[in-house]
Amino acid sequence: MKSLIKKAEESHFLSKPEIIRLLEDNSINDELFRAADRVRKKFVGDEIHLRALIEFSNICSRNCFYCGVRAENKNIKRYRLMPDEIIQLAKNALNSGYKTIVLQSAEDMYYTAEMLADIIKEIKKNDTAVTLSIGERSYQEYKILKDAGADRFLLRIETTDKELYRKLHPNMSFENRIRCLKDLKELGYETGTGCLVGLPDQTINSLADDILFFKELDADMVGLGPLIPHKDTPLKDVKADGFWLSLKVLALTRLLLPDINIPATTAMETIQSNGRILALQSGANVVMPNVTDEFHRSQYEIYPGKKSVDYTKLEEKFKQINRTISQNKGFR
Ligand code: 5AD
Repeated sequence: MKSLIKKAEESHFLSKPEIIRLLEDNSINDELFRAADRVRKKFVGDEIHLRALIEFSNICSRNCFYCGVRAENKNIKRYRLMPDEIIQLAKNALNSGYKTIVLQSAEDMYYTAEMLADIIKEIKKNDTAVTLSIGERSYQEYKILKDAGADRFLLRIETTDKELYRKLHPNMSFENRIRCLKDLKELGYETGTGCLVGLPDQTINSLADDILFFKELDADMVGLGPLIPHKDTPLKDVKADGFWLSLKVLALTRLLLPDINIPATTAMETIQSNGRILALQSGANVVMPNVTDEFHRSQYEIYPGKKSVDYTKLEEKFKQINRTISQNKGFR
């Protein structure tokens, strides 16, 4: 096991059976996390990149089985921010020193590519990177958004197990999701993907495939975290025990894709106290504080208990683990 970790640390390559062995053996977890931390330090350094997250709409046309904002959930208040409100939130974040604005929403076709392009152009008048996380669109729409100045795009594959993907995503297609990711890469976006860990019927085998998929796509960013069951979804009774396995998938992702950006996701912090710091010490180098106003943030309930980041305490916490906050845009 130790020689496998050494191999990953030195060559950034593992076969699928090797990944499976490391995922299955929990006696080597600390060694794995430490190796990922060394690779993180060597390739992307001690700077943590902060990305300001704006959740601008929770009105969704999809029905993903795990997600609290799924269309069929009638128990949440829906909202849509108008372009001027989105731009104002972005400006506030830039004034606080953020160098990346992440515009995230449910899959809401109210926002045409042209509308979003105008918002992006306005934000890009400032010295900032813009990341989009708005779900599946056509090549043409992705192109309009790229031409408007968007730099990055996040679209998790969620799982590479096609059968599981089909069960969890009614009226969606795995092939189209792959198409989206390929289009984004081709258009020159820094492209982020990732997966959920702890889905019902998800296997170690398929998590190994997920990691290899990140490498094959040459993902520029990988965001992942444990499933946190939401009471108003079909997965409400699933156990929320994916933290340590998520951390292992994260560490292996860092070993195999040494120079990419990997966030310590909010789901990690929500399910485990100190989870964000543990992720930052096991390969992660990005944190995405939510800058949506309190009122709308509480309605963007993908999963319950969503933890927020106390910005004032961040720098101090990072300092305690010998890390600093980056002053640049933090491209790959
Ligand atoms: N628990 C954890 N993560 C979730 N996501 C959606 N629903 C949940 C949940 N219940 C993740 C998905 C999506 C991202 C924005 O949030 O992976 O891509």
